[in-house]
Amino acid sequence: AANPVNDQFLRPLKDLRISIMDRCNFRCSYCMPKEIFGPDYVFMNEEQLLSFDEIVRIADQFAKLGVTKLRITGGEPLLRKGVASLIERLKQIKGINDLALTTNGVMLPKLAKELKAAGLERVNISFDALSIETFQLMSGRKTSPNAVIRGIKAAKEAGLGVKINMVVQRGVNEHEVLPMAQFCKREQVTLRFIEFMDVGQTNGWNFDQVVSKKELLDQVKSFSPVVPVDEEYYGEVAKRYRYLDQASEVGFISSVTETFCGTCTRARISADGKLYTCLFSETGTDLRELVREGASDELLGDSIRQIWEKRRDRYSETRTEESARSRKKIEMSYIGG
Ligand code: GTP
Ligand code: 5AD
Ligand code: SF4
Ligand code: SF4
Repeated sequence: AANPVNDQFLRPLKDLRISIMDRCNFRCSYCMPKEIFGPDYVFMNEEQLLSFDEIVRIADQFAKLGVTKLRITGGEPLLRKGVASLIERLKQIKGINDLALTTNGVMLPKLAKELKAAGLERVNISFDALSIETFQLMSGRKTSPNAVIRGIKAAKEAGLGVKINMVVQRGVNEHEVLPMAQFCKREQVTLRFIEFMDVGQTNGWNFDQVVSKKELLDQVKSFSPVVPVDEEYYGEVAKRYRYLDQASEVGFISSVTETFCGTCTRARISADGKLYTCLFSETGTDLRELVREGASDELLGDSIRQIWEKRRDRYSETRTEESARSRKKIEMSYIGG
């Protein structure tokens, strides 16, 4: 049975997010700007990436420490060859009762059925704009938004749960907020608006670019009334609301204006096996080295426990424009949100 572990602020270790691929077929301006992630950018090679055996072994130790919620991320996780076979193995880990994946959606027409058959329960699809111009501006590619819409439909048809994540950046896609809310309501999928964050060191963040949860909620209410919904699990990231005239929901991830560090139960592992206890960490712990040096399960588990027990992260509660600029934070594409 699980052997729970708390950090310095008594927050339990409950969720694990594993990045399995640092590459992505998009170049979102707020995550992997083209100017930095250009043709000469050096991504990880096969040897650097954790193997599926290593991922399963590490995830298993996290489950023994109390993790029940597992999310696969990237970069774009569906670019990793054989991802369904990894899902199938993670699904069998005792204690994991929520297995999900975050994706940009364009590979879903090809993979949704296979992923569902492997045991994946749900996907969160990033989708920032419906209009071609804004979508291409934000995703940094000439892809059509229809490619994502096809992915959304394929996931629904395969029986996967679907949520849409939309990062809202003032002056860039604010005008897409209403159309996107209307689209998702019509499609009966949950939309979550995400406040633009200062992740990594390359996205040029400042407070002025953040559209707050309050502004977003006002926009939603202006077209259709909503009521708040109770939290689904301890430490849920999104504040959820339900439309009065329909069962579908809309949510807000207010990482800047209403921070949620107080209940943050999330650990993150990069595609090359480093453990981070905050999205805004500057350094991580190399679990890959430990595993490849032949550490026993016991040593691996103890190491993870000790790291979590020391944890004091609460970056979002202390954020300033100065910290956003000067702190040497890891990149989002490296850690997968
Ligand atoms: P559900 O399990 O469906 O509720 O998903 P989730 O919200 O945990 O995961 P998802 O990958 O869809 O993340 C949505 C957004 O929330 C991303 O922008 C994440 O970076 C942000 N987010 C998730 N966890 C944290 C966190 O611990 N801190 C901060 N600041 N943002 C987070
Ligand atoms: N601010 C907020 N959300 C971001 N994401 C990526 N970069 C940022 C940022 N700077 C989102 C993606 C995806 C999720 C995992 O993180 O759009 O939906
Ligand atoms: Fe790729 Fe997602 Fe980053 Fe966009 S936000 S570049 S889709 S990993
Ligand atoms: Fe957790 Fe760090 Fe995000 Fe706070 S800023 S919610 S501690 S990941």
